[in-house]
Amino acid sequence: MAQKKVTTRYFSQAKESGEKISILTAYDYSTAKLIDEAGVDAILVGDSLGMVVLGYDSTIPVTMEDMIHHIKAVARGTERAMVIGDMPFMSYHISRADALKNAGRLLQEGGAQAVKLEGGREVADSVKAIIDAGIPVMGHLGLTPQSVNKMGGYVVQGKDEDGAKRLLEDAKILEQMGVFSLVLECVPTEVAELITKNISIPTIGIGAGPACDGQVLVTHDLLGIYNDLVPKFVKRYADLKNTMIDAVKSYTEEVKAGVFPEPKHSFSTESQNLKKVY
Ligand code: KIV
Repeated sequence: MAQKKVTTRYFSQAKESGEKISILTAYDYSTAKLIDEAGVDAILVGDSLGMVVLGYDSTIPVTMEDMIHHIKAVARGTERAMVIGDMPFMSYHISRADALKNAGRLLQEGGAQAVKLEGGREVADSVKAIIDAGIPVMGHLGLTPQSVNKMGGYVVQGKDEDGAKRLLEDAKILEQMGVFSLVLECVPTEVAELITKNISIPTIGIGAGPACDGQVLVTHDLLGIYNDLVPKFVKRYADLKNTMIDAVKSYTEEVKAGVFPEPKHSFSTESQNLKKVY
């Protein structure tokens, strides 16, 4: 039986009831399918795609075309989880009209149910325009990787009084604009807790401590596949990198030794049929 799709209503009910929200990233059909089957509430097709799948050293080179291509694959593999598409760098900064057009493409062409974009007061008008068009928006504050050059690196945000105050103000502005949830990335636990208690929409933490209403991680980090950069907030639930390397080594050894393929992996025909071949 088809499972009921997670909607924005699920997010608001979870905030009310205290049920924690579980979110992971995916960028392809097979991973989306297994994550959905395992029961996450939402799948974020993050622009982290640029680093963990496309091999860039930041999320900045990721394009709308990259995002749409991967959101389509994830949407095809997902039944229950909400699919949230990340708006890439410069897809919502030029004008409100541009932001709205690009958000619409992630739903219409990609098949996402919602979009996520980074920033607070400076993107408030665009967030409002997108929501007014009927597109749910997830906000993203704290460490916003698309601004890595301005921030001077991947560093914890909101550690001093001014920084914390600005984060809370931005969270309230986004709440007023109508975002259905808010990612807080690399924010001190106490600041994330303060924001969580002072807004009515669920906060989704990544490096923001346990008080958030939900958590998100990059699946490649959680499964131990991506090792180029391992932030402190990552918990490794598996060591698939070494499992995969071992499997590939065994395959190569068996191919070289002539052990693979065995008869059970092969097809056969009657020998008289071969006579007709040569
Ligand atoms: O791109 C991404 O995967 C993200 C999450 C880390 C929140 O923005």
